Amino acid sequence: MEGPRTPESHELHRIVEFLDSQLRQGNNWTIASEYPTAITPNNIHNMSIVTEDERIVSHAVLKTYIVKTPYAILKVGAIGSVVTDPAYRQQGLSTGNIKKCLELAEKQDCDLAILWTDQFDFYRKLGFELAGFDYSYIFNSTEPVKNKSLRFMSGNNVDPNALLRLYSQHTVHAVRTLEDFRQFLKIPNSNVYTAWDQNNTLLAYAVEGKGVDLINYIHEWSGQAEALMDLFHYIRSQKQQPITVMAPSHSQNLRNKLSNVAEVSHQGYLGMMKIVNEQALLTKVKKIFAAEGIDKAVLEKQDGKYVFGFGTDLYTLANESDMLQLIFGPLNVNNLDFVSNDSKQKISKVLPLPLWIWGWDSI
Ligand SMILES: CC(C)(COP(=O)(O)OP(=O)(O)OC[C@H]1O[C@@H](n2cnc3c(N)ncnc32)[C@H](O)[C@@H]1OP(=O)(O)O)[C@@H](O)C(=O)NCCC(=O)NCCS
Repeated sequence: MEGPRTPESHELHRIVEFLDSQLRQGNNWTIASEYPTAITPNNIHNMSIVTEDERIVSHAVLKTYIVKTPYAILKVGAIGSVVTDPAYRQQGLSTGNIKKCLELAEKQDCDLAILWTDQFDFYRKLGFELAGFDYSYIFNSTEPVKNKSLRFMSGNNVDPNALLRLYSQHTVHAVRTLEDFRQFLKIPNSNVYTAWDQNNTLLAYAVEGKGVDLINYIHEWSGQAEALMDLFHYIRSQKQQPITVMAPSHSQNLRNKLSNVAEVSHQGYLGMMKIVNEQALLTKVKKIFAAEGIDKAVLEKQDGKYVFGFGTDLYTLANESDMLQLIFGPLNVNNLDFVSNDSKQKISKVLPLPLWIWGWDSI
């Protein structure tokens, strides 16, 4: 066996064949069309494979994103398409590929890595932990739309410029190019719904489904909250069944509106995350405190433990995962009895940092 290693460019078609046979049997599309920015020749340097006699037997891929947030720019490495041929499992091959992806992420200055999985224990062994927030709302309202002058459309024949313009207004978003949007519009089973005003200006868009995943989930949306709510009503009426809308914690306005009409709401985690460049991330967080006028923030690793606080008012967290959950949630400093009220107040001004990855970027 050879690897984990970076594939050569001529091996890409074999990787895609391997992934299709392992993960997309019975589908009439290739997995590469679902992840057009990750499983592509441009990103082959971020793939890790194990081969036997030139045959791919295990794979994982890293896709890096520059994520803009109101307080900091974060570099995030998403890891996906982790799979080992059943005949080669339990030999540490996926562990090796994930470690290789983490090394690549570190070399490319990612602050943290993220992935989406239900195999929590497997990834915990590799240092990942559930963190961040993800709110979802089951939208089943059959009321008519409020703004009768809006025009709704269903279909992916939309100007990517218009989508990019709205998307870029999000306070938290991964930087995307126009070409990214062109590619995303072609993802199979990814349905775009749009709301337009009388001047044919795009006011809101929403995306449901993505390949085999996120069916009936609105995993990406942008635009004015009122227009979005009307758009959700339209999608609900088109689909003739409830839809689930996913939203970040910081989208307070839309979340309030959704709470008022949703049958069920649920607070979950953004994903499983791991700090990749500890020093870089902690420095970024300290700078945010300074920018907010909060002096003497301490956030560092000492003797394997995590020290935080202000000046001499210091506290310790035993694990990296605790620090991760303090920075991105859901750990709430106000629930830590041992922290002084003064420090609680200062920390809650900055933490948890808002972080979100929109659905089309998930891998
Ligand atoms: C989940 C999956 C990717 C794991 O791949 P794998 O190559 O078997 O992974 P590893 O061998 O590194 O680890 C699997 C187990 O073997 C153990 N292991 C690791 N190194 C080992 C070694 N050298 N020898 C024996 N066992 C080992 C691991 O600790 C792990 O234990 P766990 O099952 O208790 O968590 C694989 O089962 C798979 O492809 N599943 C289908 C696709 C899928 O679900 N992908 C995940 C999507 S996020």
